[in-house]
Amino acid sequence: MLKEKVEKALNAQIEKEIYSSHLYLSMASWAESKGFEGVSKWLYAQSDEERVHYLKFIGYVNERGGTTEITAIKKPDAKFKNVLSLFEAVLKHEEFISESINEIQAVCISEKDFSTQNWLQWFVTEQIEEEKSVRNIIDKLKMIGNDGNTLYLFDKDIMSMRTANATPVK
Ligand code: FEO
Repeated sequence: MLKEKVEKALNAQIEKEIYSSHLYLSMASWAESKGFEGVSKWLYAQSDEERVHYLKFIGYVNERGGTTEITAIKKPDAKFKNVLSLFEAVLKHEEFISESINEIQAVCISEKDFSTQNWLQWFVTEQIEEEKSVRNIIDKLKMIGNDGNTLYLFDKDIMSMRTANATPVK
């Protein structure tokens, strides 16, 4: 049986992971509407990956005899200045998620729920990979600057960068 504080922290994370999926869906749609086909594919795939994350949390809470709460999700941003500022927003969000996972671990330690703390290790590794992948993209976009031809090639290439960096989700 999950302790109340751990269950509450896991439910809060479910909400954040659903928001992550919504945020990347919104970003994907923006990128698609601006003609960035590769960037939109990357973001649609990221949105799907976030769905896998919240399903993992839901499954775990249920498996441990807890109760999940699926709440209303706040509306994500829908407009972005350019592709670089979009990915900077992705990184900021992923850093927030990493911090959130750390906070759940702190709750697990104070509640002596070492099974859940251990289960969260997959997410700790996943967050390191996600942040690394997005920082890599930001570095490339900074090098490209306003060079439209190179940005076009970047858009064509971004999905291969994802395959190289992504951690298998299952
Ligand atoms: Fe599920 Fe990207 O954190």
